[in-house]
Amino acid sequence: MILSVFFACMRIKQYLCSGNQRNIMKKILFIGLVSILFFSCQSSTEVSSPDGTLILRFAQTEDGGIGYRVSRDNNEIIAFSPLGFLTEDQSLGNGFCMVGTKKKKHSSVWETVWGEERFIEDRHNELLVSLRHESGMLMDIEFRVFDDGFAFRYLFPEQEKKTLTITDELTAYRFTQDAEAWSIPWRTEYYEGLWQKRNLSPALPSREGDEPTQDTLCSPVTIEFADGMYGFVHEAALTDYPAQNLYVREGALRTYLTPWLREPIKNEELKIKNEVKAYVELPFATPWRFVVLTKTLPELVASRIMLNLNEPCKIEDTSWIRPMKFMGIWWGMHIKTMTWEQGPNHGATTENMERYMRFAKEHGIGAVLAEGWNKGWEDWKHFDFTTPYDDWDMEYLSRLADSLGVQIVGHNETGGNAADYEKDLDAIYRYHEANGIRVIKTGYVAPIIRTVDGLQWNKGQSGVRHYRKVIETAAKYHIAIDNHEPVMPTGLQRTYPNLMSQEGVRGQEWNAWSTDGGSPCEHVTVLPFTRIMAGPVDYTPGVFRFENSIIPTTRVHSTLMNQLGLFVCFYSPLQMACDLPEHYMEHADAFRFIENVPCDWEQSILVDGKIGDFCVFARQERGTDNWYIGGITDEETREVTIPLTFLNNPSPICSTDGHRQSDRAELFTRSREGEKVPRYTATLYRDAEDADWETRPYAYNIEEREVTADDTIRVRMAPGGGFAMELKINQ
Ligand code: NOJ
Repeated sequence: MILSVFFACMRIKQYLCSGNQRNIMKKILFIGLVSILFFSCQSSTEVSSPDGTLILRFAQTEDGGIGYRVSRDNNEIIAFSPLGFLTEDQSLGNGFCMVGTKKKKHSSVWETVWGEERFIEDRHNELLVSLRHESGMLMDIEFRVFDDGFAFRYLFPEQEKKTLTITDELTAYRFTQDAEAWSIPWRTEYYEGLWQKRNLSPALPSREGDEPTQDTLCSPVTIEFADGMYGFVHEAALTDYPAQNLYVREGALRTYLTPWLREPIKNEELKIKNEVKAYVELPFATPWRFVVLTKTLPELVASRIMLNLNEPCKIEDTSWIRPMKFMGIWWGMHIKTMTWEQGPNHGATTENMERYMRFAKEHGIGAVLAEGWNKGWEDWKHFDFTTPYDDWDMEYLSRLADSLGVQIVGHNETGGNAADYEKDLDAIYRYHEANGIRVIKTGYVAPIIRTVDGLQWNKGQSGVRHYRKVIETAAKYHIAIDNHEPVMPTGLQRTYPNLMSQEGVRGQEWNAWSTDGGSPCEHVTVLPFTRIMAGPVDYTPGVFRFENSIIPTTRVHSTLMNQLGLFVCFYSPLQMACDLPEHYMEHADAFRFIENVPCDWEQSILVDGKIGDFCVFARQERGTDNWYIGGITDEETREVTIPLTFLNNPSPICSTDGHRQSDRAELFTRSREGEKVPRYTATLYRDAEDADWETRPYAYNIEEREVTADDTIRVRMAPGGGFAMELKINQ
């Protein structure tokens, strides 16, 4: 910029000093015009966050390359980072000329159908940069800057060219300081891996060639910067495009889009270099790319940039979408005491289901999942989603569900044959709706799935389209989805709140059968800062018996109290209590917490935590003044101190008559001044002094006392331990 100012001044000087003295007025006008153009152009290519601390600048290189820089508190935190694409017929990485800019401010509050909080504030400033490529192609880039990060997406307006075949996306993030990133490799099957910390230093050597390797990472990545700040890089609103992956090359984090695959495919010889990544029909908007940047971990976790970038809810009547806990004929199959297929140990029988449903009713659990109720489990070749096994009486169970007020969670395992499933989608969802089923757990067990386009990565463009089609079809039939083997969530639940939960995680089931013996204690203390930041997780907490006599080399690395803590630390509006009724009854007093804990929240706070060590969350139950606190630790014992000051947080819960008020002013100004100090009955479920995940996992104490917001609670968590606490307001 300094150089351009210098050259502009030299031009003006030359012009003024020229022999032409006749028309001084003309010159003054010219200079005026140049300065107006110059300054308006300069100021409009940068946009700051509403609080002014974060500034994003759109920038261009001499050859018309496009990129951006970001600074915070006047320090450059992202140096010039390229933007653009490679397409089948040309590079859209340079040769651009800026033809216009537009700016907008935005501030609003919207109400969630369910979530970690009821109201979400969306405050950002926007810059739209319109570009014309030397080929005539038009492309806009829409930037949004929030107080806690920034986002952008590419827009291709309607124009002469009608389609685009994208072979690479050039989006990069050149962080200026050393950093470490929590991530999993991009080819981690179903995202079910242990997240690890890797160096993300700008000084890392360049990688050989262009091909992604195992160093390529799944999106998202969570970053710990050398100066103690935090970052989270991910994408939002992925509906018709391949999922992004990220890799480091030449000091920058770069984008690798999941490619289309061409058959025949031999697993290890997947041809991925220069393959097509996306087929795009214009007009088109890519998903958002976003980076959260915060000074503290609680702020990182509280960021709602991803949800704000998704489209508002498209489902008009959402009254049928209900957060709830559920149990299931499920863990028995994973610990191998039951089978999915029909036989002597068949799990999903009418009799078992009735027993589970009656248990659920007695303990206030909203629904029961049944896996293996339908034909096809013998060979996984063709699942029949509308024909039950002979020992499953759908009509009877559906009537029972009605009379008990306990729902059946349906299960559709496709074995990765998405094409087969998609073919009959309407009929399948109609069948489930007719049987009163309002939630379906879908499954795609196959590292490469078969879509209508042949064998594809599930997170490639074709897979992404399939999953969206399922969500939309389910919505038509008033059915919510709990998607297993999904594409990493990107906040679509704002638009389709019937997409309630997803797996995409190395969940509890690994503790039943994994050949490595089960996930280490650390695993659960990483997830709230990585996978779960991308959206609700169906981890399936709540194992109450850790030894598995059938697979004795494997076990759950946790204490019973750690399992309770997960119900608060891991967010999902469909929260599964995964163990068997008889195991729960072995610790009926501890099970009371699972009975009571809600899964829909008014507000949520990370009280304390360190990625990979421990975390403590506090959440206010939606629609009440009750709070729940959960803590979990890794293999280290830890004492945490929890000031209960959050009990004083202005409650966004509206008026006492239950009337919902979305008005921000009223929302945040409710004050407790002058009111009587509320007192709470606190029930604390904590590890006993000698508890230890390895030696005494079942040792716990339950204590009750009265507290107010002025109190501070100290809790010791055992190795692999945790705690849970319920704070009920005294009337
Ligand atoms: C894998 C899923 O994660 C698990 O929950 C399910 O039980 C099996 N697939 C069978 O569908």
